Amino acid sequence: MWGGRFAAGPAAIMEVITPSIDFDKRMAMQDIAGSRAHCRMLALQQIISQFDAEEILRGLDIVEREIKDGTFAFSRKLEDIHLNIENRLKELVGDAAGRLHTARSRNDQVVTDFRLWVREACARAEEGLQELQRALFAQAEKHYATLMPGYTHMQPAQPITFGHHLLAYVEMFYRDRGRFADCSKRLNESPLGAAALAGTPYPIDRDVTAKTLGFARAMRNSLDAVSARDFALEYLAACTIMSTNISRLAAEIVQWSTPAFGFIRLSDAFTTGSSIMPQKRNPDAAELIRGKTGRVLGDFVALASVVKGLVLAYGTDLQEDKERVFDAADTVEVSLAAMAGMIADASVNDTVMRTAAEAGFPTATDLADWVVVKLKKPFREAHHIAGAIVKRAEDARLTLDKLPLKEMQAVEPGITEDVYKVLSLEASVNARMSYGGTAPDRVREQLYFWREKLK
Ligand code: ARG
Repeated sequence: MWGGRFAAGPAAIMEVITPSIDFDKRMAMQDIAGSRAHCRMLALQQIISQFDAEEILRGLDIVEREIKDGTFAFSRKLEDIHLNIENRLKELVGDAAGRLHTARSRNDQVVTDFRLWVREACARAEEGLQELQRALFAQAEKHYATLMPGYTHMQPAQPITFGHHLLAYVEMFYRDRGRFADCSKRLNESPLGAAALAGTPYPIDRDVTAKTLGFARAMRNSLDAVSARDFALEYLAACTIMSTNISRLAAEIVQWSTPAFGFIRLSDAFTTGSSIMPQKRNPDAAELIRGKTGRVLGDFVALASVVKGLVLAYGTDLQEDKERVFDAADTVEVSLAAMAGMIADASVNDTVMRTAAEAGFPTATDLADWVVVKLKKPFREAHHIAGAIVKRAEDARLTLDKLPLKEMQAVEPGITEDVYKVLSLEASVNARMSYGGTAPDRVREQLYFWREKLK
């Protein structure tokens, strides 16, 4: 491609280190779209003839078909997707092909393709997140009043509903969707026409190519256009944050499905057996989703390290951007799909959850609150009284709502029969009517909100 200046061919090792075709072939369709837009603009601006433009477009159609059919012969000697396509175009339409690269460089070409690719990846991530939200929503709707232990420090804290717990993840994944939407919006500017780094003397129209490719505008600065990869970092950051969120759900699933908890049962379709222990039902998908978080963060760190300290404008270091982004995209997409399937298929054991919620005196706060409201004690004192009553219940091996009144009165003589109204799990949950609280009526309000949003 650049034989003019070179007498000798490249060292053999160059054919190992240089090529990106093995991975950047994933941008073939974006590359063809970019070339079509560029070609039409060149003809419109009379930089190339109408005839040549039609020949190029005809050739690109054939290339597209060959790639889709799997008959296109990719060559590592031709380094990357851009040169592979251009070379095949030359075989197909001859001299006209050589005019396509007028007023363009691989530096603006590659990053145009890459922005288009990441834009699609953002849309896929948003879609995957929405599917996962829908699966969580469906379970939350069924279990808006199902009691479960709420934990802090992994110790029983206060009873909550399973629906409320699931909707917490629906919220998280909504923010993740927002991050991908922001990323997609911010990256949606066209670098095409920046050429190698400084722009071009040809009378190109960058607005035309920007519009054709669905970009909001042409990038203002040609150096920035070819050098910037913060859009890819932003995508990887969104993937990383999403992965940390989904890993928490994955961890809960691992815990909830182990027999010691038994809160949920994963379907056969989402569990694997053991080669030695016949009884096993391993939550492999959840573990893998949790484990892949490290990999996605690694992708972010790897690209951030490539870009750090890199002087303007283009440097081939930047070729390292794509594998990290492709890897993260593949990882988050498979994780989202597996999680959505796992959630949709899981069955919930209400009875086990309820029994677990009874352990650990989770209505002790309600007892303290009753003492505050009915006996007009300061909360700190009420806290102390409730603590002493919990101690008695523990010794008597009884839950608070089964502890005889005289036991409580031994601690605080002012306590009356009325206290039992607040000591059951249902009473505790129903009382948490503050905005965003776990009361089933409040959870139902959240469900109404999400039903509209997830339509
Ligand atoms: N394969 C290159 C990349 O992925 C394309 C641009 C190369 N430009 C160059 N002058 N070597 O970044």
